[in-house]
Amino acid sequence: MLKGKKIILGICGGIAAYKSVELLRLLTKSGADVHVIMTRAAREFVAPLTFQTLSMNPVHTDLFNLISEQEIGHISLADRADLFVVAPATANIIGKVAAGIADDMLTTTIMATKAPVLFAPAMNVNMYTNPLYQENEQKLRRLGYLFEAPVSGTLACGWEGEGKLASPEAIFESAISALTEKKLAGRTIMVTAGPTREEIDPVRYISNHSSGKMGYALACEARRRGARVLLISGPTALPAPGGVSVVNVTSAIEMQSEVMARAAECDVVIKAAAVADYRPLARSGTKIKKKGESSVIELVKNPDILAGLGSLETRPFLVGFAAETDALAENAAKKLKEKNLDMIVANDVTQADAGFNVDTNRARFFFRDGSGSESGLMSKNQLAGVILDHVAAHLESR
Ligand code: CTP
Repeated sequence: MLKGKKIILGICGGIAAYKSVELLRLLTKSGADVHVIMTRAAREFVAPLTFQTLSMNPVHTDLFNLISEQEIGHISLADRADLFVVAPATANIIGKVAAGIADDMLTTTIMATKAPVLFAPAMNVNMYTNPLYQENEQKLRRLGYLFEAPVSGTLACGWEGEGKLASPEAIFESAISALTEKKLAGRTIMVTAGPTREEIDPVRYISNHSSGKMGYALACEARRRGARVLLISGPTALPAPGGVSVVNVTSAIEMQSEVMARAAECDVVIKAAAVADYRPLARSGTKIKKKGESSVIELVKNPDILAGLGSLETRPFLVGFAAETDALAENAAKKLKEKNLDMIVANDVTQADAGFNVDTNRARFFFRDGSGSESGLMSKNQLAGVILDHVAAHLESR
């Protein structure tokens, strides 16, 4: 994901410095070339050797220690960076940068860089809410500096409140977002994800194997690309993606009402959810007791949410999914036409590495104008990017 990206990770002196070790791992694991700068205070909390070993690059601490005779350390690092992440960022570093002070390796490099700078502050709650700090943060935000806000919790100093460093995963996500071109800025994209559950009685339901991974990957990628994202999710075990508005639903009827209520505000709707086609005619209010050797549950058809969107007078750009076991192209083309879609993503769910409950997918795309294309086998995250590339290209040409 971050292959070929050069990231400077600035570490300030705070107890949360140990969490930067995990952040560094996430960055390097996704392919980034990370160069660490530690302040003097940071070195009191974690030894530079930890970061050096994990980044496989020397850790920079000294402003006047030239890496080579030709290179001025801070200028060279500043020039080569694609992104600067400062985690944890103390009130001191925020104050210094806001005031234009450059008196050590970290502050001089920040001052000299043209790369985006992302601060992840961590400090005592009273420091965080101090108007002096807040004013400095606001000033930096106005100047285009990025922030991953701290979270609430028990702070190392014993206080409860805001000031805890955001999770390494949240900072990592912001870093990816900072490096992603905002091709969907100004667009509102609704994604539906996961299965629906159709209750039979208080303890049983009808559902399917959808994990929600494809829809969540789409929501996450759309947000990285600058879209406002609404995620209407059936029951899944996945954490809510940061920066996305999530509406949790259970049944197809609930999903329909949440989707239709928001359709008018969307430029695009991507229906990755595996909606149950039928629901029990009646839900029993009490647990159905076992009787006889066989049992029949009468089912009635659920509304087709996507077809409902397709029949709207002014409809958003519509992307459907087709999970098929046979005659993939024919079935997908039929769904595209019958549901009045702009694009359909079809996959053969009989393949072990595509479709339900796996991390990879292989899809064929069919478009309204009769054209089509194919993705190779890739991760659901990568496939989300390819789908959104198609969406963005079609929106631009509309
Ligand atoms: N879909 C929907 N509402 C339904 C059923 C499906 O919105 N009640 C959407 C799905 O989210 C998906 C697309 O329609 O984007 C195709 O779903 P799929 O289950 O593959 O097809 P169906 O139309 O249900 O047809 P069949 O089950 O007969 O293959």
